[in-house]
Amino acid sequence: MKKYYINTMGCQMNVHDSEKMAGMLEEEGYTCAESPEDADIIIFNTCSIRQKAEQKFFSELGRLKPLRKRKPDIRIAVAGCVAQHKGKSIHKRAPHVDFIFGPQNIHKVREIIHTSSDFVFVDDNPALADMEFPAHREDRIRSWVNIMFGCNNFCSYCIVPHTRGREKSRAGSDIIKEIRGLAEKGYKEVTLLGQNVNSYCSSVDFPTLLVEVNNIEGLERIRFVTSHPKDLSPELVCVMRDLEKVCEHIHLPLQSGSTNVLKKMNRKYTYNDYMMKVEMLRREIPEIAITSDIITGFPQETDEDHAATVKALREIGFDGLFAFKYSARTGTKAADMEGHIPDKVRSERLYEIIETQNELTDSKNSQIQGTIQEVLVEGYSDKSPEIFTGRTRTNKIVLFPVHSSLKPGDIVQARIEKTNRHTLDGTVISLNT
Ligand code: 5AD
Ligand code: SF4
Repeated sequence: MKKYYINTMGCQMNVHDSEKMAGMLEEEGYTCAESPEDADIIIFNTCSIRQKAEQKFFSELGRLKPLRKRKPDIRIAVAGCVAQHKGKSIHKRAPHVDFIFGPQNIHKVREIIHTSSDFVFVDDNPALADMEFPAHREDRIRSWVNIMFGCNNFCSYCIVPHTRGREKSRAGSDIIKEIRGLAEKGYKEVTLLGQNVNSYCSSVDFPTLLVEVNNIEGLERIRFVTSHPKDLSPELVCVMRDLEKVCEHIHLPLQSGSTNVLKKMNRKYTYNDYMMKVEMLRREIPEIAITSDIITGFPQETDEDHAATVKALREIGFDGLFAFKYSARTGTKAADMEGHIPDKVRSERLYEIIETQNELTDSKNSQIQGTIQEVLVEGYSDKSPEIFTGRTRTNKIVLFPVHSSLKPGDIVQARIEKTNRHTLDGTVISLNT
């Protein structure tokens, strides 16, 4: 039996693309290998969002050279965003790579098996949104479903429009059919995936799609990522408020608290516009958790701009934050701007942002101590077979003792006994029936 090994880096899009590539290989009779050493085909599903991710990939790829020497029949493929961005130049740096194909061409994984010659596929694929893929899903309770691919926004720092191409929405009927199938298999939660789900556009718009997904029997929870603040509409907020399966959490990347910087980032909203969206969300859905992304040390960012971001964090009070040091990406507008910030300053600003948010996250979490939360049981904790892990509707992780009458996929009411920065400790009060 031939085996594959997929090394996945980067975002949920990549995680799900890997599930689809695994599904296609399994249809061809391949099984999953425990390690690269056991595999006949090794695929790197790469990320190029920041320099660090790309470096990590090249160093892991380099480490495969001796294996390839020992087992010359092994095939090595590079997929994902680095494949798209660097194309055949990857061969120069790593001659032991056989196949290169970008995120719009994951179906080419089938050809690896049937061809003896190397190939590079990085063309735009207009048919991507109409293609159906089998997926070997990692989880039995929670699932990812693409609703769209690509991005039209061209934020000046971002490589994604260059790697994943222009926006393409899947047909609503295809999405509903896929999620119905998942619900029939026992999946309880779906996360709808798109670079900017609010601009989803087929015969229906995103709020209407959510209404249709909400009607699927057996499905319990609906989430979606990622939302662009400029496209977050009052209609969407009302639908989130009114549909019982749509969870009370939104990831709404702010990127900077300075309107000057936001303009240079080409984000198309001011800090004030963002605040108004946050107020609308909290007015309509008081219990909503809001998480965000921040980039520190964008070119020309002044001390005052940075101070505005720190102030914004305190003003908004996010439930959680992903903060990143700005990383110049070749081909983006920001990479060619004047006034790049020294690494030391970018790091210091990152540190201050993380420290500020840590304090805010702690205080935000402590507010739910003693409350009763609805928790979906996801599985056993990595740390102990005696502990279940699950999530609140607001996407906070809850750990609680294993209960003989409970299994993954069940929904319970739990009291939050103790809050930590990244997890909450709970006890089960009752089962939802
Ligand atoms: N440098 C640093 N962070 C970046 N992000 C996107 N591009 C860059 C970059 N060039 C961050 C943004 C985005 C998240 C997925 O990654 O905050 O929301
Ligand atoms: Fe995902 Fe962006 Fe990284 Fe590509 S570059 S894998 S879209 S995070």
